[in-house]
Amino acid sequence: MRDGTSSFLIVANRLPVDRVGENEWRRSPGGLVTAIAPVMQRRDGAWLGWTGAAGEELKPFDHDGMHLIPVPLSQLEVELYYEGFSNATLWPLYHDVVATPIYSRVLWDAYKAVNDRFARAAAEAAAPGAVVWVQDYQLQLVPAMLRKLRPDLKIGFFLHIPFPPGELFYQLPWRNEILEGLLGADLVGFQRPGGAANFLRLCRRLLGVQYLRNEIQLEDRTVRAESFPISVDFGELDQLVREPRVQQRAREIRAELGDPEHMLLGVDRLDYTKGIGQRLKAFGELLDDGSVKPGEAVFVQVATPTRERVAEYIRLRNDIELRVGRINGEHGMLGRHPISYLHQSYNKEELAALYCAADVMVVTPLRDGMNLVAKEYVACRHDLRGALVLSEFAGAADEMRQAYMVNPYDIAGMKRAMLAAMRATPHELARRMRSLRRRVASHNVDRWASDFLTALESGEPAPAPTE
Ligand code: ADP
Ligand code: G6P
Repeated sequence: MRDGTSSFLIVANRLPVDRVGENEWRRSPGGLVTAIAPVMQRRDGAWLGWTGAAGEELKPFDHDGMHLIPVPLSQLEVELYYEGFSNATLWPLYHDVVATPIYSRVLWDAYKAVNDRFARAAAEAAAPGAVVWVQDYQLQLVPAMLRKLRPDLKIGFFLHIPFPPGELFYQLPWRNEILEGLLGADLVGFQRPGGAANFLRLCRRLLGVQYLRNEIQLEDRTVRAESFPISVDFGELDQLVREPRVQQRAREIRAELGDPEHMLLGVDRLDYTKGIGQRLKAFGELLDDGSVKPGEAVFVQVATPTRERVAEYIRLRNDIELRVGRINGEHGMLGRHPISYLHQSYNKEELAALYCAADVMVVTPLRDGMNLVAKEYVACRHDLRGALVLSEFAGAADEMRQAYMVNPYDIAGMKRAMLAAMRATPHELARRMRSLRRRVASHNVDRWASDFLTALESGEPAPAPTE
């Protein structure tokens, strides 16, 4: 860092921390932060983003080995840019329209204004020739805005969520502006090859630019679009779960649940893309039809509070809590319930203990950019026990073929997969888990970040993805 400027800058909607007390901060939830925080801690750079509180103006500060530069958002901007255009327009549109997107010019104007603020803050914080890595759907206009202010920078962009095909993207009234915003980057990264292909095709169809393989030739420069599947810090989790206190906590969790024969687990933000209702329906039916006896299996669903003022999230919470109440009411006993529902956030260690305790991890999104929970579970199972039930619609499905794959819309299929996972022999579980672990261990988050940054900094194509 020189003159208060940085040669490496992350620009994301959120800082990687949430305020919990006057001067106390805690790691904020979600896959983006989980993936990038360890990368930042290893590079001497700065992270620019919102603190998560409306109207808060703070000076830059350091936390957990990271230099953080807050970008303020007013209450109205939180409503229009964050809850509105980001999470009521783009989020549902990019996730297969599983909820109906809201198209409003007022929301769009706020999105532009906030993107402009982020671009200006980044232009100020970046040293000459710095590498600036812009993150996710909330900031898709920043690359072009920043390039205009600072043509000397190397600008990368990574989209953590799916990039939709034309059939969906065409709905967006501001579709050309979004593509033009992204084209301000030197390298645009996606979770899956399909996302990169969608982007390239849309640029050609809507903007009339030409591309060859993964490179778009603009008048004065080239923009590359490629996939970089994100991952977790495998080594850190693997080490953490070997700690005797984590093992002990895992045993306690099972005891607290009444030592059931099978513990199933779901860990998600309480988001309608995650298929939480569908998986609970499948589990409820297993109890209804007697395939699973009450007391034999417990389903622990941890659902982190998220975007709580957005209408679809309020509706989802009501639906899920009604469903949990019904199933527990019908199949519970005094002091024992088949579903243990926790609308709370946990620290890494408690989550790791939950992963260790669970026989079956149920990850059933209707659409998901990647899903890090699936990878975290695998990283925590050095004992080679435990089964992963995984949706075909998660980005992670490309790499995790040895999971019990499901279509979350097919309730009967999910019931069969859950039962198969519960009844699998130790030999079968070990065979699958060994192969899943090999994949996640060799494609950890460091590799993701270094593949992206090497491609960005060198301008060379990233190594071809390996199976
Ligand atoms: P998304 O990015 O949509 O939230 P991911 O599965 O990719 O989904 O990432 C979620 C991240 O948030 C994971 O690292 C997971 O461990 C973390 N997380 C999810 N639920 C909780 C919770 N209840 N408490 C703490 N962390 C959580
Ligand atoms: C997903 C998104 C991230 C977002 C996170 C948490 O991982 O890709 O950009 O930060 O969810 O959501 P929130 O709205 O709380 O930031």
